[in-house]
Amino acid sequence: MLEIKGLKKTIGGSEILKGVDLAIGKGDVMAVLGPSGGGKTTLLRCLNYLEKADAGEMTFLGQRMDMPGMSRRDIAAYRRHTAFVFQSYNLFSNKTALQNVTEGLIVARKMEKAQAEERALAALERVGLADKRDSYPNQLSGGQQQRVAIARAVAGEPDVIFLDEPTSALDPELIGGVLEVIRQLAEDGMTMIIVTHEVNFARHVSTKVLFMDEGRALAMAPTGEFFQEQKLERIQTFFRSLDRKEG
Ligand SMILES: Nc1ncnc2c1ncn2[C@@H]1O[C@H](COP(=O)(O)OP(=O)(O)O)[C@@H](O)[C@H]1O
Ligand SMILES: [Mg+2]
Repeated sequence: MLEIKGLKKTIGGSEILKGVDLAIGKGDVMAVLGPSGGGKTTLLRCLNYLEKADAGEMTFLGQRMDMPGMSRRDIAAYRRHTAFVFQSYNLFSNKTALQNVTEGLIVARKMEKAQAEERALAALERVGLADKRDSYPNQLSGGQQQRVAIARAVAGEPDVIFLDEPTSALDPELIGGVLEVIRQLAEDGMTMIIVTHEVNFARHVSTKVLFMDEGRALAMAPTGEFFQEQKLERIQTFFRSLDRKEG
């Protein structure tokens, strides 16, 4: 459903993405792994046109698009099919959980308030936070705020959700609840591309793994295959360094 060919991005004179290819089908959950600075965030931001790629071709739902050539209108139309979950939640601090979820539906999707609220409540229920509908972000834990952000993503009924290290800003005891919500979405068939350092999560929940290093996709494989017969020295070294960190 989403295929990328030859994605390149230069920022401030250095080439951050050096020609990345990837492909996912409907219902796939792609885990993007790799060392810090490898280009994972830039890749995800280009996929949602938060950054404009310098080169690359995207095929989405059967439609082929030249990534640098996308007009603002093309991008707005594309974004109605996607959602983005940030590491730092990016909620409006002066809006309640419910208002954070309805905002995009009312403003961007021109939905009527009552209908938007109905959708938003269903989404909050899906992440286990219907009872927090009237709470403001500062009254919620980091984990709860991220679950509101996920509800906001889900409420737009996107075809694909991009998540950039959704649990990296959280205290360890709050990570599990957020991963559980994402696991449930995966089980429900939501298509996702998720940058994560949670290797166990990637192993058990993702269907595909993309390994990024120095602006290149070093590997893209079905998850079982990726973890079973990992032959690339660079990737083995990466996993050994994680083992050391985890003691
Ligand atoms: N806005 C920016 N300005 C300058 N350099 C950037 C910018 N965004 C990313 N980079 C550089 O691009 C490289 C990849 O960054 P990033 O995509 O954030 O990697 P990752 O998410 O894998 O850690 C890093 O070397 C980073 O310093
Ligand atoms: Mg990053």
